[in-house]
Amino acid sequence: MKLNRIQLKNFRNYENLLLDFHPNLNIFLGQNAQGKTNILESIYFLALTRSHRTSHDSELIRWNTERMRVIGEIEKRGSKIPLELELDKRGRHAKVNHLQEKRIADYIGQLNVVMFAPEDLELIKGAPAKRRRFIDMELGQIKAVYLYDSMRYNRALRERNAYLKEFSQKIDPIFLDVLDEQLVEFGNKVMDARSEFVAKLGETAAEIHLQLTHQIENLSIAYVKSVKDDFAGELKAARTKDIARRQTSLGPHRDDLQFFINDINVANFGSQGQQRTVTLSLKLAEIELIHAETREYPILLLDDVMSELDNTRQLDLLETSIGKTQTFLTTTTLDHLNNLPEDLKIFTVDDGKITHENG
Ligand SMILES: Nc1ncnc2c1ncn2[C@@H]1O[C@H](COP(=O)(O)OP(=O)(O)OP(=O)(O)O)[C@@H](O)[C@H]1O
Ligand SMILES: [Mg+2]
Repeated sequence: MKLNRIQLKNFRNYENLLLDFHPNLNIFLGQNAQGKTNILESIYFLALTRSHRTSHDSELIRWNTERMRVIGEIEKRGSKIPLELELDKRGRHAKVNHLQEKRIADYIGQLNVVMFAPEDLELIKGAPAKRRRFIDMELGQIKAVYLYDSMRYNRALRERNAYLKEFSQKIDPIFLDVLDEQLVEFGNKVMDARSEFVAKLGETAAEIHLQLTHQIENLSIAYVKSVKDDFAGELKAARTKDIARRQTSLGPHRDDLQFFINDINVANFGSQGQQRTVTLSLKLAEIELIHAETREYPILLLDDVMSELDNTRQLDLLETSIGKTQTFLTTTTLDHLNNLPEDLKIFTVDDGKITHENG
């Protein structure tokens, strides 16, 4: 899959910008705070209808304006598909082939991306919510029904929690049964999909990690659930506690992932370098999983990560990606990029203005 061009209107610090991309490698070069990450963010937004770094959509709209728009042309299996995503105070509006999509869940998946950004290093050590978000973003891209099921689960969870908060003095057990039924139905679907995904991700990431570490490190990923095997039964057993605490104590909203190298927990005992390499293995595994599911390689977005990686890891990353995936990377200097191919496009970013230097 390729992204041929993109147009931004009032996205972050871009008033109106049109860029034509190189099919293999695009580099955004510039000083700090000029708008390099904003470009990658706009591509991520076009793919997933949200930002990789903020949950506040309004931050994406250029200051003192009302709405923003990202328009792109993607190319897959020989056909060109225009995508358009607009954001205003009322929400998102998505178009594929100039036709409005009623549900955002139907839009996501047109453009597949894998982003590797400084924030991702928190994937290993950060809060569990980061890892759940990681699963949601990756799985949602390749499995539309998962997006739908997890939206229904979240709605059921909000309703149940709201009921527990408001009516804890006079809970109607029959009504709570109805709420629980919804929660269990969609919760089981979410957990099944996650479990299958984590198994595949673990297998692929382990293979890649073994290569990256010259056969020294065995990586494994554990899917840690609050539900053991019978969501309905366990929810019933936790009911008295849930009513007292006025919240739902178990379900996929409490899921987590754990990473092990040679059976040692990476979050607790891994070195910084090991954590970085695990993150890299995960990202490279995502590329392969998306390809396995969709028969297309996703677009790879690398935000300022080359400086974080040593020479051999840079080479690993570029060797695996270039030629397979169209890559977009940001950097403040070309100095430490030692392994670049010759066939590429370099864009210079300066205060929301972009000039194209070569090719
Ligand atoms: N909603 C917005 N409207 C206008 N300008 C914005 C908005 N949001 C961010 N900016 C501007 O965008 C710039 C930051 O852009 P970005 O994060 O892409 O920088 P960068 O080039 O990646 O920098 P670094 O190298 O430090 O990562 C800042 O100058 C900021 O003021
Ligand atoms: Mg940046």
